[in-house]
Amino acid sequence: MSAPEIGKNLPEVALPSVSLAKVLKGQKALVTGANSGIGKATAICLAQAGADVVVNYFSGDDAARQVVADIQKSGSKAIAHLADVSREDQVQAMFKRMIEELGTIDILVNNAGLQQDAAFEEMTLQQWNTVLNVNLTGQFLCAREAVREFKRRGVVKEVSCAAGKIICMSSVHEVIPWAGHVNYAASKGGVMLMMKSIAQEVARYRIRVNSIGPGAIRTPINTAAWEAPAAYNELMKLIPYNRIGEPEDIGRAAVWLASDHADYVNGITLFVDGGMTLYPGFAEGG
Ligand code: BGC
Repeated sequence: MSAPEIGKNLPEVALPSVSLAKVLKGQKALVTGANSGIGKATAICLAQAGADVVVNYFSGDDAARQVVADIQKSGSKAIAHLADVSREDQVQAMFKRMIEELGTIDILVNNAGLQQDAAFEEMTLQQWNTVLNVNLTGQFLCAREAVREFKRRGVVKEVSCAAGKIICMSSVHEVIPWAGHVNYAASKGGVMLMMKSIAQEVARYRIRVNSIGPGAIRTPINTAAWEAPAAYNELMKLIPYNRIGEPEDIGRAAVWLASDHADYVNGITLFVDGGMTLYPGFAEGG
């Protein structure tokens, strides 16, 4: 099946005008791994929606400072903070500083993550542990500190109708198995049930916990999948919507999920993937 010409024969739809400006006004957000890629775009989108943001990073001071400068342009406060999310002491120090300098936390975006790919039989214990420590344990440590502060403070209704919001950055690979990336897929499968179990446990305190499951997004983590035209064409076979995702696609979804517009949304993964989870191989056949 050849892709239809974009927009051809589609009726025009007039969307009602709603203002989404500053939906996060007065809120304090922490985005981990916010110096590049999805984390960077999410930090900037949250700030454009009115939130003050802690920009966590592990390496790349200059990039983190640049994100802080971009955020300040939108009129929000921003603080860069170096911390390894897989280290309990560093995570606790980061939350302590955030609460001292910004007063509290309303939104946690558990974004920091990495890949260390290898054929399964060649995967070292170190590759396994590094990926699980950052992608899963790191999300646990940050979520735990956030829940402690959300419960201590409770709902401040002028700020949000929830006591706090956690967004876990998962992946389509929480449901799509991925040969050659067993450690990564295992970490994201873990994020899925960690997220749902936390959501079930803390919902009664008006804390919402959800995930975003990005598909292929144009970031440094997967350059090999999109930079060369041949690789990009191969990638399109996996994406019914026929384009790669941009980091802002995820940042915008995060703004909505963190806002009170999504107040009844709890314990779900919002896939933002151009249809990658639709089993595109079955578009013809089966
Ligand atoms: C991975 C990317 C990959 C995408 C789709 C993401 O979670 O980090 O490397 O391109 O999933 O397969």
